[in-house]
Amino acid sequence: MDLLTLPLVMAVGTAVIGSLQFGYNTGVINAPQSIIEGFYNETWTNRYSESIPQNSLTTLWSISVAIFSVGGMLGSFSVGLFVNRFGRRNSMLMANVLAFVAAAFMGLSKLAASWETLIIGRFIVGLYSGLSTGFVPMYVGEISPTSLRGALGTLHQLGVVIGILVAQVIPCETNVRPVSSSIMGNASLWPLLLGFTAIPAVLQCVLLPFCPESPRYLLITCNEENKAQSVLTKLRGTEDVSADLQEMKEESQQMMREKTVTILELFRSPVYRQPIFIAIMLQLSQQLSGINAVFYYSTGIFERAGVAQPVYATIGAGVVNTAFTVVSLFVVERAGRRSLHLIGLLGMAGSAVLMTIALALLDQVKWMSYVSIIAIFCFVAFFEIGPGPIPWFIVAELFSQGPRPAAIAVAGFCNWSANFMVGMGFQYVEKLCGPYVFIIFTVLLLGFFAFTYFKVPETKGRTFDEIAAGFRQSAGQSSEKYSAPEELNTLGGADPPL
Ligand SMILES: *[C@@H]1O[C@H](CO)[C@@H](O)[C@H](O)[C@H]1NC(C)=O
Repeated sequence: MDLLTLPLVMAVGTAVIGSLQFGYNTGVINAPQSIIEGFYNETWTNRYSESIPQNSLTTLWSISVAIFSVGGMLGSFSVGLFVNRFGRRNSMLMANVLAFVAAAFMGLSKLAASWETLIIGRFIVGLYSGLSTGFVPMYVGEISPTSLRGALGTLHQLGVVIGILVAQVIPCETNVRPVSSSIMGNASLWPLLLGFTAIPAVLQCVLLPFCPESPRYLLITCNEENKAQSVLTKLRGTEDVSADLQEMKEESQQMMREKTVTILELFRSPVYRQPIFIAIMLQLSQQLSGINAVFYYSTGIFERAGVAQPVYATIGAGVVNTAFTVVSLFVVERAGRRSLHLIGLLGMAGSAVLMTIALALLDQVKWMSYVSIIAIFCFVAFFEIGPGPIPWFIVAELFSQGPRPAAIAVAGFCNWSANFMVGMGFQYVEKLCGPYVFIIFTVLLLGFFAFTYFKVPETKGRTFDEIAAGFRQSAGQSSEKYSAPEELNTLGGADPPL
């Protein structure tokens, strides 16, 4: 019987502050967009004595939003540099330096009359977020007892969506109220909003020193069995931790048996080529679904859809997002991953069609603005049912210990790249397509639906060997080259992975 001891709860709670930060900084630039654009315009006018051209404003704002993903990509790639050298806990502690620096850059950008400062801050907080998305699930997974690992692991995801929600609720206070009733005035409050990211960082810096290092790191990486044992005793609230130690030792032996696979080998080896292709496509399906068009830009979308209080609609989307994340936590473990992903993609495509209809008929039918709210809510809900959680699930399930770290690195790279594309490109495409912008996501979603339907196997309840055998079988039907791995290694470098 595994207990939820106080040290365990405290350590997990402290770690997921990192997840909150990631969510917060994903959502925080949504509501104050027009106010910060006003600041860009003003700054431009002061510098060049003319008001900012619309194109330059769109570019500057898109960069401010999307540079976050560039930082995220670099951060997620750097996770491996930290965790085995400094330990999991100290890595999290060190990353907070980035959060403080980013908060300073973003919070002082108005004072410095410089959008460059804000953009640099967004990049740095992206770095922090990329690192966090690696550190937090790893630490939480390694300190949790086996029976609670799944449940506690989901807290990372919950932390992210709550972070998004918090980022949407706080500016409501500052945006909706008339300027005069607020002491600081709404136009000057946004630097605080961006600088808030320092508060969770302070909290985490105070609490982390009281949290234990990961026992798995102590035992497997540092070979310090005594330390690992004393940490486990505290975390489990019992003297007898031999079962935990035994499990870790077995895992370490398993790891030594299975050679670590490099990223290059992942693409060269015919055994991994099909699974990594599926992993990449699933990550793309998550980001190119257009979900971050909503999290980054929904306030503007609602505004153009004629919604009277767009900030409240954005908060509504955050609430729906959180609620359905909780729903999916209960469903994901039980239902098949493939079916959930298919349902989610189809539901999102349907919502995108509804959104298009709402935007197209807006001029003729007044109440279409309400339809647009419902469409976005459904869009977000279906996302959390399938394309939100499933891609990460399946990547972990398609690969065994050896190739998994490389596969997750590739998946992370694709995820952040696609995130960047949507963040950077959405405003341009929206200007180009007007009300039909969501048609693009519909087409993409249906494409990913077809791909999932024909190519993605069900992974639930199957071992790596069974899944791999399934791939060999389907590959064997179309060509025989998958039967002889050695022979293929010479061919492998010739054709590009995608
Ligand atoms: C910039 O501000 C000026 C003056 O307030 C305004 O007339 C202009 O429309 C603004 N430009 C943009 C692109 O918003």
